[in-house]
Amino acid sequence: MQIQEVLALIKEDMRRVEEEFRKNLLSDVYLIRRVGEYILNSGGKRFRPLMVLLASRLCGYHGGLHIPLAVVVEFIHTATLLHDDVVDNATLRRGSPSANAIWGNGSSVLVGDYLLSKAFSITVAQGNIRVLDILSNTTTRMAEGEVLQLIKHSDVNATEDEYLHVITGKTAVLFSACCRIPAVLANLPTEKEEALATYGMSIGIAYQLMDDCLDYTSKSEDLGKTIGNDLREGKVTLPLIKTYRDATEKERVTIREAVEAESVDEKTLNEVLVIIKKYGGIEYTLDFAKGYINRAKSCLEHFEPDTERAALAAVADYVIERTN
Ligand code: IPE
Ligand code: IPE
Ligand code: MG
Ligand code: MG
Repeated sequence: MQIQEVLALIKEDMRRVEEEFRKNLLSDVYLIRRVGEYILNSGGKRFRPLMVLLASRLCGYHGGLHIPLAVVVEFIHTATLLHDDVVDNATLRRGSPSANAIWGNGSSVLVGDYLLSKAFSITVAQGNIRVLDILSNTTTRMAEGEVLQLIKHSDVNATEDEYLHVITGKTAVLFSACCRIPAVLANLPTEKEEALATYGMSIGIAYQLMDDCLDYTSKSEDLGKTIGNDLREGKVTLPLIKTYRDATEKERVTIREAVEAESVDEKTLNEVLVIIKKYGGIEYTLDFAKGYINRAKSCLEHFEPDTERAALAAVADYVIERTN
């Protein structure tokens, strides 16, 4: 199955999700509506709502709570992007100036807080304590992941395990929640709930691994974000961890200086990229991602081989094929 067919499968549900986005941004405070609508209209991939909607179908869930919960996960994601762009000094998001570049850091942080609070008030209104428990644990771990990343800032000696710990927190736990929640809504047995949670976790890790490759290899027109921002921000990701481990002392100096520098120009970025290519840092990271995608797909074996299962397998493949 192709990703287009997957999208067609949940088209109507996604339309309802988009409608709910608008309704939940109707704050009396103008700036909240303005910044909220700006970021939500700027064309994100809606990958997390997609996972909620698809997993709900796989679980045979026939209620209506998957729609507001798809809104909730996108609100949580959007809040973290608003905060992340402040922390990462990013100026481009989804092909447009980031919210912090237009309205400043303060507005981004506070509107991010609003979206996060809104996400929880939508969840509480549904009255499912298990779902609330999953989501509050998720956002706690996401914050831990981001803080851990901050601590590891500029640390070229960061290990693979530390890196995996960071990306599991900042990215994968939300994907895992997106897939676990539908199993909870549908009252599936623990074995299936855990299989879906592990599927989501593996997808999430692969998703961030790919994002970290694309940060080096993509074009900003395709990615909608500034290329090389991780290096510029002193963010040591797997392509660089693997490369630094294998590099000569001279190459290590180049990497270290780039990671620690206040600003990194195109020439330095290219020098580092040449070293990464020499040691296969991108391929290594890609292989890692492929391993997680295989793990994700094997979790689907707990379910009947139907259209929904095929769709979730296609989503897994898409994660390592995506270019934006
Ligand atoms: C960006 O997520 C942050 C990461 C976890 C890599 P997405 O790539 O899903 O961002 P949008 O929502 O499509 O813009
Ligand atoms: C993902 O990390 C951060 C979040 C989960 C919010 P990145 O910092 O790599 O995300 P991008 O590249 O800015 O989208
Ligand atoms: Mg960032
Ligand atoms: Mg990134």
